[in-house]
Amino acid sequence: MRGVLCGVLVVGKVGCQESVVVRVYTDSDLAGVVSCFARSVREIGARYYARHQIAAWAPEPPDMETWAIRLRTGGVFVADIDGCIAGFARADDGGVVDLLYVHPDYERRGLGRELLHVACSWAVGRGAQKLTADVSIVARPLFEAMGFRVETEQVVERRGVAFRTFRMAREADPDQTLAQDESPPGLPV
Ligand SMILES: CC(C)(COP(=O)(O)OP(=O)(O)OC[C@H]1O[C@@H](n2cnc3c(N)ncnc32)[C@H](O)[C@@H]1OP(=O)(O)O)[C@@H](O)C(=O)NCCC(=O)NCCS
Repeated sequence: MRGVLCGVLVVGKVGCQESVVVRVYTDSDLAGVVSCFARSVREIGARYYARHQIAAWAPEPPDMETWAIRLRTGGVFVADIDGCIAGFARADDGGVVDLLYVHPDYERRGLGRELLHVACSWAVGRGAQKLTADVSIVARPLFEAMGFRVETEQVVERRGVAFRTFRMAREADPDQTLAQDESPPGLPV
């Protein structure tokens, strides 16, 4: 294992007065993460997918137990703005990035980029050779900007509903790990 991630990773600004901290998820973030997910899907995702798809993507009420179990494994990182969850990402040991969501109040301010970077760095630090993700239409430009390329355009099924997504991948860059004593990259000010 090349790097260790813990504690506060990134501190930056997303607005004149708002500071963002990108840090490791803890159990007490559960409600904030699930709420951020719902807003992100229903407001950002809804621009690209139909109403029945959004209902299947973010069902109401959310299954909090399933969320709690999922978020307890892998590398899960949150963007925290004054105690509110503005975004989050998850990767597993094998380099699969399976969660990346930003709250609509904070989109296009660099949070998605930063969260993806941190989650990928975590996976590379755990030995992942390749980074992969099943990516939504809205997230594709961000993954491309981060060096991922489309391997397959696909239709995946979620709760019985079909979604057009992209299987995207990138070779792992062994230098892309954050060591504990390394200065993390900053967010745009
Ligand atoms: C995809 C998502 C995480 C991006 O988060 P974000 O914080 O808004 O993204 P960033 O500000 O870091 O964007 C970085 C770059 O990605 C690209 N990008 C991001 N969102 C984009 C969009 N909607 N359209 C075009 N390009 C986009 C741009 O190149 C952008 O750089 P720029 O703003 O300097 O032009 C966010 O839109 C989201 O949560 N979407 C809904 C949920 C979703 O689809 N999640 C992904 C599941 S795979």
